[in-house]
Amino acid sequence: KKPPVRKGSMADVPASLMEQITRFEEVFTVPAEKLKEVTERFVGELNKGLSKKGGNIPMIPGWVMDFPTGSETGDYLAIDLGGTNLRVVLVKLGGKRDFDTTQSKYKLPDHMRTGSADALFSFIADCLKAFLDEEFPEGVDHALPLGFTFSYPASQDRINEGFLQRWTKGFDIDGVEGKDVVPMLQEQLKKRDIPIDVVALINDTTGTLVASMYTDPETRMGCIFGTGVNGAYYDVCSGVEKLQGRLADDVDPDAPMAINCEYGSFDNELITLPRTKYDILVDKQSPRPGQQSFEKMTSGYYLGELLRLALVDLAGQGLIFSGQDLSKLEKPYVMDTAYPARIEEDPFENLEDTYDIFKNELGVETTNGERKLIRRLAELIGTRASRMSVCGIAAVCKKRGYKTAHIAADGSVFNLYPGFKERAAAGLRDIFDWEVKKNYEDYPIVIVAAEDGSGAGAAIIAALTQKRLAAGKS
Ligand code: GLC
Repeated sequence: KKPPVRKGSMADVPASLMEQITRFEEVFTVPAEKLKEVTERFVGELNKGLSKKGGNIPMIPGWVMDFPTGSETGDYLAIDLGGTNLRVVLVKLGGKRDFDTTQSKYKLPDHMRTGSADALFSFIADCLKAFLDEEFPEGVDHALPLGFTFSYPASQDRINEGFLQRWTKGFDIDGVEGKDVVPMLQEQLKKRDIPIDVVALINDTTGTLVASMYTDPETRMGCIFGTGVNGAYYDVCSGVEKLQGRLADDVDPDAPMAINCEYGSFDNELITLPRTKYDILVDKQSPRPGQQSFEKMTSGYYLGELLRLALVDLAGQGLIFSGQDLSKLEKPYVMDTAYPARIEEDPFENLEDTYDIFKNELGVETTNGERKLIRRLAELIGTRASRMSVCGIAAVCKKRGYKTAHIAADGSVFNLYPGFKERAAAGLRDIFDWEVKKNYEDYPIVIVAAEDGSGAGAAIIAALTQKRLAAGKS
């Protein structure tokens, strides 16, 4: 979706509000020079993350050590514990760069983000049971192989484990950090007599990379622009210093290794990120201050909150919404990313949709000038997010020397936020100094819609893992 072109003028916006708009434009605009500076530092941080000593960006080896060929076949289950839903998918790999999926989505109850580990894994097991009862009413005669997409930083020494480093995206469940989540799931499956074998635990970015490579060999990265922001790519084992001593003797040093960057944590040291006071506030009020600094400026979980904080700030100074009941607007995270997205989609002239959103959903009556300010602010926050979030892509491409590439992308922001694709492409163009092209798909490094990474990707990785084990490889 493209954002509608702004037709109306700002001439009728009162001077006091214009002054605020100008201030927002100053702090939220990220010029090309800044993008280049961020990218430069990003490359160094990716390298640091691969070193033995490690750095701020986790750069987690995902133990996917083969490229998909497109000829993988078989039936697999996949589950995807994303930010908002649990998805259960039955994947039939066709073997001709094709696959079929059947899936069910289960809304993760809100309290579960901050509840207990037991409740979370019981919920997942119950959903799996419901899915199997539906898909296999006669039961199954063998344990079904399952790929578990667990989209949080999880350390692995082999593919079927994942020690959660720390929760991200607002999750905060006690007793999971530092532990392997695979046995937690398996225990709940066992309690319910569910015949499932967890073959692989993967990140959503790794799944996206592999699923997209299965159908498109030009794929060089899998990226998520959603509740969180992250990317994965293939490195070579010998290029990953921290793998020294962790690889089996039979591993070829030139073998590929999928790396889940976890680059949402880029620049937690706050050396280069152009943060505003609202970014500082988002961080301070989050369950994990000081972490995921890059993600907090760019991902869907935070965009609506940034907009809300800026509006509450202006209201507090008596500059907007005077005399209005702000009790709804004052609730943290009441505006999810759909808010700035819908506001940006509102044709500029009268901003009637924005009027309705504020009136009906937040109980705030807005003036025309206020709505123009809100619209401009949403535009600035959305533009900054898309431009900044491609620095991770540019850094990986620079590091790997990719001059051309398909970058497979997924996530709610990529798929639903108006104008994201054009803005992201313009960000890459600024970083690489490409000549302006009319069509954003004509640039040498192009962000394309991914195949279903957490479903098909998890299944393909499970298939690759089984093939590896059958061949007696470690
Ligand atoms: C967060 C998670 C990461 C995931 C990303 C996108 O950054 O830490 O594992 O890939 O969100 O879902």
